[in-house]
Amino acid sequence: MTAQVEYLTPTQQDGKTQHGKREAVLDVRNLKVYYSTPTGDVRAVDDVSFKVYEGEILGLVGESGCGKTTTAMAILRMVQPPGGIVGGQILLDDVDLAPMNERELRNIRWNSLALIPQGAMNSLNPIMRISGQIREAIETHEGKQNSKKIRERILNLFTLVGLPSRIYDMYPHELSGGMKQRVCIAMAIVLNPSLIIADEPTSALDVVVQRVVGQTLLDVKKRLGVSMILIGHDMGLQAQLVDRLAVMYAGHMVEVSPVGTIFKEPLHPYTQLLIESIPSIKERKPLKLTEGITHDLRNPPPGCIFQARCPKVMDICRSVKPPLEEIKPDHYVACHLYD
Ligand SMILES: Nc1ncnc2c1ncn2[C@@H]1O[C@H](COP(=O)(O)OP(=O)(O)OP(=O)(O)O)[C@@H](O)[C@H]1O
Ligand SMILES: [Mg+2]
Repeated sequence: MTAQVEYLTPTQQDGKTQHGKREAVLDVRNLKVYYSTPTGDVRAVDDVSFKVYEGEILGLVGESGCGKTTTAMAILRMVQPPGGIVGGQILLDDVDLAPMNERELRNIRWNSLALIPQGAMNSLNPIMRISGQIREAIETHEGKQNSKKIRERILNLFTLVGLPSRIYDMYPHELSGGMKQRVCIAMAIVLNPSLIIADEPTSALDVVVQRVVGQTLLDVKKRLGVSMILIGHDMGLQAQLVDRLAVMYAGHMVEVSPVGTIFKEPLHPYTQLLIESIPSIKERKPLKLTEGITHDLRNPPPGCIFQARCPKVMDICRSVKPPLEEIKPDHYVACHLYD
């Protein structure tokens, strides 16, 4: 193994340690990210709070446009204009990233945080060999390296993500989609970050390859003890990969819970509909949700954000916004049904 990559003890590796004893690597508090447009601010992320614990994978799900990528970009402080963070804290190992300037952020990015962006495998440089791209990532942050040592380090990374050594001198177009995605995972872990954010790392791949790439992420988590946020649409895949699941709807966090609990007993009506709509092998279930978030993110309704589509809507939901509260140990939900 390279000097960069250190193995953790079994207790540190276990992301499922009991509630209350875990250390939060990331603590996002009341995050607000708006995109300013001529017709008003798009409230893409509106008062979102959640934690990522040491050595766990937190799944972040919700339909297209609910704010998953914006949340990820805000954590990395990479939201582009006309977007901007308008409130909240992003505590990484207890240090708030939200007010940092570019110089302060440079060290944190990649050394502590790594991103596998949405569509990452298509962003590999087509005219550069795989080894060259990884070498460049290392040398940008650590300076010029001894060639033999760097080769050893890259080959070790390949082993870790299940890539054959023969791709060392290949170009991206010579690799399959799954291999390219694993190169992106290798590039994310090369600087030994404490948190990896993977934005839909498997969505462009076929089902079988999705599982393989998913398994690679699990292996990386287990062997390096790194924490991850795994953004995705596929609830089935999330069920297999993540320790806890965070559900977003229209810029709001509506439920956060250990993944087993949320599949067994989803509390928020939106989560219930998401889980009910997972196709099962035995029976085809109709999607009970109509496509798309129903209101304009510029003009959220007073009260609950999900009221227009909620089958269990009550009077209070139309006027009072439900806060995200811990209803059962480690099970958070924002819904008046549990007041
Ligand atoms: N530059 C922009 N200007 C205005 N609105 C934007 C801009 N970028 C994103 N948005 C809006 O912010 C909201 C959140 O977008 P985001 O990309 O975070 O969603 P997402 O959950 O990642 O969706 P997907 O699953 O499709 O990737 C969307 O409603 C989107 O229209
Ligand atoms: Mg996205």
